Amino acid sequence: MKALVLAGGAGSRLRPITHTSAKQLVPVANKPVLFYGLEAIRDAGIREVGIVVGDTAAEIQRAVGDGSAFGLEVTYLRQDAPRGLSHAVLIAREYLGDDDFVMYLGDNFIVGGITGLIERFRRERPQALIMLTKVSDPREFGVAELDAAGRVVALEEKPARPKSDMALVGVYLFTPAVHDVVAGLKPSWRGELEITDAVQGMIDAGHRVESTVISGYWKDTGNVTDMLEVNRLVLESVEHSVEGDVDEASELIGRVVVEAGATVAGSRIVGPVVVGAGSVVRDSYVGPFTSVDRDCSVIDSEIEYSIVLRGASIDGVGRIERSLIGREAEVTPAPRVPKAHRLVLGDHSKVQISK
Ligand code: DAU
Repeated sequence: MKALVLAGGAGSRLRPITHTSAKQLVPVANKPVLFYGLEAIRDAGIREVGIVVGDTAAEIQRAVGDGSAFGLEVTYLRQDAPRGLSHAVLIAREYLGDDDFVMYLGDNFIVGGITGLIERFRRERPQALIMLTKVSDPREFGVAELDAAGRVVALEEKPARPKSDMALVGVYLFTPAVHDVVAGLKPSWRGELEITDAVQGMIDAGHRVESTVISGYWKDTGNVTDMLEVNRLVLESVEHSVEGDVDEASELIGRVVVEAGATVAGSRIVGPVVVGAGSVVRDSYVGPFTSVDRDCSVIDSEIEYSIVLRGASIDGVGRIERSLIGREAEVTPAPRVPKAHRLVLGDHSKVQISK
């Protein structure tokens, strides 16, 4: 069995994390979301992984390399433009050969991995196995229509009027039966070869398509609440580890990760918290479920239940909660006079100011 990981797509802007080019490299608890997928694939016993890359190929290749750091053998498959998830299967045809494969969307996060799913597929071996999850806004996803027995009868991509709240999660298992269907697909209204059409084609051709419902699922849809929540879930399982410098005046409570090269001085950190390499936390409080990425500074401030991305600085601003601070962002106090907020906000930013 092989894996096909999709890390292509145009380098378009990702809400709310502004101008990150490869959305698969957005960090969850300081680790790119793509890495969790690769680890889940490895943990399920798969070695050979084809990664589909597009505009952001260089960035993805720099991060993943030849895959040996993950215990994987990675082959990069170049897609000329984001022509759809089924198009990715089409260009991977030769690489995949006649093997079964798991297709994994690189921007999806599945709590608890995919080992159980792959075991089920190997045991029952339907022609396709898809994962579904209940979502609040199905219009942003592929949506499955189920019959009374819970069987998938139809699939629709980003429907204006969804027939259920069961969305397709970005992990699909296929036998080589999918290739004949993919070869006959036509682009959809949005000009893409859709994976929903491929699965629908398999159902229509009488192939056995099974589904399973999961709960711990996340993908970025511009929703900070969800992102903070998935960050919390991942931090729940970090182990205490201090490799950086923590001075005598500081107090670490609970499970706190201070990576090598990070400095904590005169501060109180209540875990679970991760402080990334090269970051400085001084005269501050960092509360539970906070991830501070690499090369950040948190000075004379308080922060809790938040995500601070690489290179951001927070200095002398009192308390921050439930926040996502983007790369290289600067949060500083305004001068006392005039008493006014001074903001330079990127596109799609959201600010809540306490008066
Ligand atoms: O995340 C789940 C959803 O993923 C499913 O519910 C939908 O049925 C499915 O079509 C897909 O929808 P999205 O529109 O959210 O997919 P997106 O364009 O974000 O692409 C998903 C991943 O695949 C992302 O990591 C980029 C990569 N990709 C995408 C396309 C269109 C490629 O590598 N090549 C492509 O051509």
